[in-house]
Amino acid sequence: MNKKFIKLFICPKCKLNKLDVSFEILKIKKAKKSENIEILRCKKGHVFRINNGIPNFVINNKLESKIYDDVWKNNRLSKYKNKDIKLYKKKFQSFANIKKLNLQNKLVLDAGCGEGRFSWLLSNLGAKKVIAVDFSNAALNRAKYQSANQSKIIFIKADLNNLPFKENTFDLVISFGVIHHNKYPEKLFHILSKFTKPGGIFSIYLYRKYGMSFIQDMIRPITKKMNRDKLHHFCELFGFTVTPSKKMIFDIPNILKKIRWIDVLRINMITFEGLTSTYWHRFSIREIKNWYKKNNFKIISFTRHISMSGLRLKK
Ligand SMILES: C[S@@+](CC[C@H](N)C(=O)[O-])C[C@H]1O[C@@H](n2cnc3c(N)ncnc32)[C@H](O)[C@@H]1O
Ligand SMILES: [Zn+2]
Repeated sequence: MNKKFIKLFICPKCKLNKLDVSFEILKIKKAKKSENIEILRCKKGHVFRINNGIPNFVINNKLESKIYDDVWKNNRLSKYKNKDIKLYKKKFQSFANIKKLNLQNKLVLDAGCGEGRFSWLLSNLGAKKVIAVDFSNAALNRAKYQSANQSKIIFIKADLNNLPFKENTFDLVISFGVIHHNKYPEKLFHILSKFTKPGGIFSIYLYRKYGMSFIQDMIRPITKKMNRDKLHHFCELFGFTVTPSKKMIFDIPNILKKIRWIDVLRINMITFEGLTSTYWHRFSIREIKNWYKKNNFKIISFTRHISMSGLRLKK
């Protein structure tokens, strides 16, 4: 890990005297194996390990992160290529819808980066630095592999509810498809919004009420308890995964997407993630607009699906 980025972080444990806390990289020897381990240490002595170049700031491991390991680990790995920029930019703008997207000299936080497609995109589009955060090892390893050679992305393992940054740090904070999988979504929105600088933008994508498959809702209590490898295999066979790992014989969701009127039960919205994730909240546009207003943002765009972008007002 590059030392010059360390100044971006504060200790997520003590958070005291924020400006004074600093980190150092040490090589220490394990008692039995004489292997060198890189760590970050705050002035109060709190230690965070760096594994595979990714600092781990998670204090209490959450069960939900294991579920995401299962979501990501089985999918096909493929490195991002220049020709993907157009596709991901279209997807990004379908969520963020930011007119005149200018990333020059901008510091970006990708909160819940998953496989890192948007971190990779924004670093390619000129951002100065992108901090990509997730609490799933499988997501981070995958994201790091797929965005190889992108030195402007710093991957960190952390719980979004306890991030190692000072408030008012980022020019752009994005969190697509993440907040609704947390126990207290509104609280997490508030936490993430504070990391946006006044004058910066906070963009999110959330599930909307009535938009998803109610069959999925009905069977979730059963599928959440099922053997996840077997369930993943089933989903893969019928195309209900996040990103399919092989060509499917029965790609039900895609067939139904093409003949939408037949899919009154919204079967095409069923995913492995939806069948297994611990939390699954949905919202109305009015609720989300209220979150932005309460946290002193001016809404600059929204879609009914729901995605929304807000500008943090200078008080
Ligand atoms: C549906 S994926 C979205 C990935 C990415 N934003 C995208 O659009 O491609 C949700 C990701 O959020 C992560 N996540 C959810 N809650 C989190 C939390 N509290 N802390 C860190 N990561 C979290 C999950 O591990 C998962 O990789
Ligand atoms: Zn500390």
